[in-house]
Amino acid sequence: MNISVVGGTGYVGLTVAVCLANKGHLVFCVGRNEEKVSKINRGIPLIYEENLEKLLKDALEKKKLVATTNLKDAVEKSDVSFVCVGTQSMEDGSINLRQIEGASVGIGEALREKEGYHVVTVKSTVVPGTTKDLVIPVLERFSGKKAGVDFGVCMAPEFLREGRAINDFLFPKDTGIVIGELDARSGSLLLRIFKGFDGEVLRTSLGCAEMIKYARNAYLAKDVSFANEIANICQKMGVDYLEVKKGMELDSRIGKGRFLDAGVGFGGSCFPKDVHALVKKSVQMDVKPRMLEAALKVNEEQPFIAVKLIKQVLGDVKGKRIAVLGTAFKPGTDDMREAPSIKIVNALLSEGAEVSVYDPVALGNAKRIFGDKVLYEERVEKALNKADGCVIVTEWAEFAEPSIYGNMQGKVIIDGRRILNPKKLPPGFRYHAVGFSNVVET
Ligand code: UDX
Repeated sequence: MNISVVGGTGYVGLTVAVCLANKGHLVFCVGRNEEKVSKINRGIPLIYEENLEKLLKDALEKKKLVATTNLKDAVEKSDVSFVCVGTQSMEDGSINLRQIEGASVGIGEALREKEGYHVVTVKSTVVPGTTKDLVIPVLERFSGKKAGVDFGVCMAPEFLREGRAINDFLFPKDTGIVIGELDARSGSLLLRIFKGFDGEVLRTSLGCAEMIKYARNAYLAKDVSFANEIANICQKMGVDYLEVKKGMELDSRIGKGRFLDAGVGFGGSCFPKDVHALVKKSVQMDVKPRMLEAALKVNEEQPFIAVKLIKQVLGDVKGKRIAVLGTAFKPGTDDMREAPSIKIVNALLSEGAEVSVYDPVALGNAKRIFGDKVLYEERVEKALNKADGCVIVTEWAEFAEPSIYGNMQGKVIIDGRRILNPKKLPPGFRYHAVGFSNVVET
């Protein structure tokens, strides 16, 4: 099938475009930025995702993917359009639908001239009601045509995790495929694209599909804040949260693989944005989202636990060199949106510490965020050698290797992600961690 991806130069759009092209579809990847479009056509991925570059080059070689700034032409030549534009938060946390509206106008104008049936599928994360109350009216107004008659509309949320986006899209066994449809004809056409994908399909209403995305992310974010709250209580009690978590997982109703790893909090471009947007939408509808607000409140404060712990062990950090290990919001990505590292670095700086940062892939973004306020180290050993103390903020596998701490000056480690086993450290270290019982002296 011929497919156009609007917002195709973004994180979700580029992933969707490359994956569908590799499934044999002809994909028009639509972006507004000429330079980004040109980079994609030259096989240069704009985001850091495992396997993306290879799949992009394959798709270009097979002439199955064309990046373009011409939305009208892309809609004209395709049967289905995926809307994958960004829906960032407004100042007050509510969702910003400006790009959704813009894409709907552009697609509507293109449909006005187009013969034949076309399905518009919203894949961006939008608050429940957006597709029905904003996208469809704008499409109808600018096309002069009728949704459900002259063109179809679907809402198919994405469940992509950063660092695993290609895998999550191509192998939806663990996430399923959700298709919200205005009518059966729309859903059936869209379903043809997902034929051969191994994942249970749920066909539902547009509003349910929109809400499923929010409910999932809010549920997972709530689990993280629950884990962090229990870990903070364990710490005060002098018990180890990791042991408590093992005991919780023995209950088959809880089980393993839940989002119960306590740490310095959740970040990224999804959890914070989506939970804030759902809170705002709930309040607008006069529903008190108490649990969602509590999950955000716990998460708001969690990064500062790491600062409290390093002051507890090292004493005053003023004038001391603290190495922050990891700045990405999680391993496997260079993304620092809402990353806990930002709060931790700024808090250490405001306490008068001299901060060095190291991250295997996110240093570029770190430099854009911290500027000349911190020192940047290209190797973790160098960051540690001159440090009085360090804080593990992102659970990159290399930070779990005890040998990298061997030449540390100050020998104080705060493990914000519980990835290091203090028993494996050489003598002379003081180790503390989130949800950990007491300071360990090795
Ligand atoms: C998430 C959802 O998992 C995905 O389905 C959705 O499509 C987009 O949002 P992502 O934001 O990429 O994906 O990251 P994820 O792996 O879910 O982690 C989210 C945040 O929670 C990260 O900051 C991570 O460090 C944190 N986290 C996760 C914890 O602190 N503890 C956990 O146990 C799990």
